[in-house]
Amino acid sequence: MVQEFPQAHIYGIDTDAPAPHIQFSARCHFSQNDILQGLPYADHTFHYVHQRLLVGGIPTYYWPATLQELVRVTQSGGWIELLETGNVYHNAGPTTKQLQAWWDEGMTTRGFDLSIMPTIDVLLTRHGVINVHMEKIQVPLGTWAGRPGELLGLDLFEVFKSLKAVYTEKLGIQPELFDHMVALLPKEWESHRTTYEMYSVFGQKP
Ligand SMILES: C[S@@+](CC[C@H](N)C(=O)[O-])C[C@H]1O[C@@H](n2cnc3c(N)ncnc32)[C@H](O)[C@@H]1O
Repeated sequence: MVQEFPQAHIYGIDTDAPAPHIQFSARCHFSQNDILQGLPYADHTFHYVHQRLLVGGIPTYYWPATLQELVRVTQSGGWIELLETGNVYHNAGPTTKQLQAWWDEGMTTRGFDLSIMPTIDVLLTRHGVINVHMEKIQVPLGTWAGRPGELLGLDLFEVFKSLKAVYTEKLGIQPELFDHMVALLPKEWESHRTTYEMYSVFGQKP
């Protein structure tokens, strides 16, 4: 963003500190904050507000307040854009379906209902955002879709592996069974030509 917009100041938050090797430009301002506690910025501060891949960090109950915060810090006429994911796969094989079903069963009762994500555009509209446009992107998983599919498949494979503690400690799945099923995913995505749905949505503050 800093390179593409030489006059812009970029402000970002995450609950985690950035990796130590990252060198920030003087026009990049990072702070460690929890979006669930509200954003550390005044009303009407930004021309453009972007949120990406927070679906795992925002319980369903907090989505309205989170969107309200994004709207609050945006200037009138400014734009808000989100890129998020949910729990929709196309051409899913049995292993993908089972891992997703366990997640849905266990996490919905813990406050993470991913089925709201395909309607994130409706939620934005409810917060007064206008000119809302949403694109559902079918992200291909696996080498059957060339280099992008290969990279995106690898990425999601790593995401599944990183969720082991959630599956085993919170959802009660045996670690050996989890490892076995996750190991099956890459081949299954290849043979079924699986895609994963993502949501690119933007709109304007009136
Ligand atoms: C999948 S990563 C996405 C990182 C970055 N937004 C991107 O798109 O490259 C999810 C990030 O959300 C952060 N996160 C989770 N819950 C959060 C919260 N309540 N407030 C702020 N950041 C949060 C995590 O620390 C993690 O870095």
